[in-house]
Amino acid sequence: MAIVMTADEAVKRIPDGATVLLEAMPTEEVFPAFYRIYEATGSPKDLTIAWAAGIGPFSTEARGMNHFAHPGMVKRMILGHAGLNHNIVKVIANNEVEAYNLPQGVITQWFREIAAGRPGLITRVGLGTFVDPRIEGGKLNERTRACEDLVEVIEIGGREMLRYKPIKADVAVIRGTTADPEGNITLENEALFMESLEAAMAAKNCGGFVIAQVEGLRDTSARPIEVRIPGIMVDIVVVATSRKTHPHTLFVEYDPSYVGDEIADLSQALLPMPLTPEKVICRRAFLELKKGDLINLGVGIPMGIAQVAREEGMLKDITMTTEIGVIGGLPQGGKNFGPAQNPSAIISQTAMFDYYDGGGLNATCVGMAQVDAEGNVNVSRLGANVIGSGGFINITQNASEVMFCGEFSAVGTDIAVEEGKLVIRKDGKAVKFVEKVGQITFSGTVAREEGHKVLFITERCVFKLDKAGLMLIEVAPGVDIEKDILQRMHFKPLIASEVKSMTPEIFLPDPMRKTS
Ligand SMILES: CC(C)(COP(=O)(O)OP(=O)(O)OC[C@H]1O[C@@H](n2cnc3c(N)ncnc32)[C@H](O)[C@@H]1OP(=O)(O)O)[C@@H](O)C(=O)NCCC(=O)NCCS
Repeated sequence: MAIVMTADEAVKRIPDGATVLLEAMPTEEVFPAFYRIYEATGSPKDLTIAWAAGIGPFSTEARGMNHFAHPGMVKRMILGHAGLNHNIVKVIANNEVEAYNLPQGVITQWFREIAAGRPGLITRVGLGTFVDPRIEGGKLNERTRACEDLVEVIEIGGREMLRYKPIKADVAVIRGTTADPEGNITLENEALFMESLEAAMAAKNCGGFVIAQVEGLRDTSARPIEVRIPGIMVDIVVVATSRKTHPHTLFVEYDPSYVGDEIADLSQALLPMPLTPEKVICRRAFLELKKGDLINLGVGIPMGIAQVAREEGMLKDITMTTEIGVIGGLPQGGKNFGPAQNPSAIISQTAMFDYYDGGGLNATCVGMAQVDAEGNVNVSRLGANVIGSGGFINITQNASEVMFCGEFSAVGTDIAVEEGKLVIRKDGKAVKFVEKVGQITFSGTVAREEGHKVLFITERCVFKLDKAGLMLIEVAPGVDIEKDILQRMHFKPLIASEVKSMTPEIFLPDPMRKTS
């Protein structure tokens, strides 16, 4: 039977050296207690912490996963994403902790495999990327290079696979809406279900214990069909003192449209975009989509594709999803990435990634920071800055069509769309098409083996991933191939025998009127 206690009392029960599975949701009642208790008592110390999604404050503020950026308290981090938690990025860059980055979906599925006592997670996700032990093994700094490999290459039926080795989980910290007298947890007000069940099962089956932060207690038993984490898997319940410590996201305390209690008016959220290079990219990507497609839009420029779909009257014909488990509605962008307004269903993050991995996504549009001649893409490390892969590896490795959407160069571009043509006044300082990407987050080699359609869409041209490498296939009106493209790349791409003009309507103010 679960015991109700304060966050401080709960954290005091965590032994030194424990492995703690964390749900990276705003769990602002329990998370701050870790450092408070460590500072006061010197324990719990030398923790290994693992989390999948990368929800964070986009700053050094002590919120989100930044609560764990304390070397000494934490010895090792196994994470899906770091970049939104700037203190986490700092302790990794300074070699103050051991740190591994595994794909976000892999971490959630790995918790499930640990729970089931299986020999780890066996999957092709991560092959050929920096997670592959033949490349970096997901190790994020010098200090970790001397540590053991968490991933190994195996062969099944003549095909290479990665095995993510199981670890022993001692504690899971999860989130729910209510706990009933038996400790049964319901999730009716949660915008995301994450992998709370998988994490709880893993900790229990490893002989550990589970702390659940909830919004409130019920006096009577919950209806069994509403129980998402059964009381037999919950040891400690911590009740949040207010919505502030149990918000939907770190920037929105509570939005009834995230959980279906209200229908939000999306017309204000999806105002027509001005005709900028970003819009050109989104429009070109949108032309690839078909009625009935199930898609995932990555952070950054690709989020604008929802606005284009609305302008073209096709918002209802395409189902958007987020990898965290939200289907339909309008996925939230920027700092609120994760939930959606007016979703049609919310499932666990683990289930969503299972569906993605098996090929459920018709298409994905994601950003790109660097691309090389092999079609490898980097979004996970810029210079010394660790960002993390998030769901990018699962998503881009398994969607039937992958569109990398981004400006041709970055940092200080000045480009306009005028009279149906692109006018490049100034390119950015950062070249995106480079000889060698800083880190392989998407493997062009593995993508060619899988045979998926892969496009690289910029404001001035489109490349496809051909069997022999990156190939220029389309160019924008007003753009000179030699001067505006080839001279501004660090490698020479293949050039199609017939380079087409990008659809002229993309560069005109009126909607393109796509109908299929
Ligand atoms: C890669 C990513 C940063 C690109 O962002 P974007 O807004 O789509 O596109 P931009 O090219 O305008 O880049 C945004 C900023 O990133 C930085 N940037 C991007 N590429 C860069 C490069 N090669 N070198 C240095 N800085 C770069 C720049 O600061 C740029 O802004 P600026 O040009 O105004 O200075 C972004 O898409 C991302 O973080 N993607 C990875 C996560 C993801 O998509 N996950 C999906 C599933 S979880």
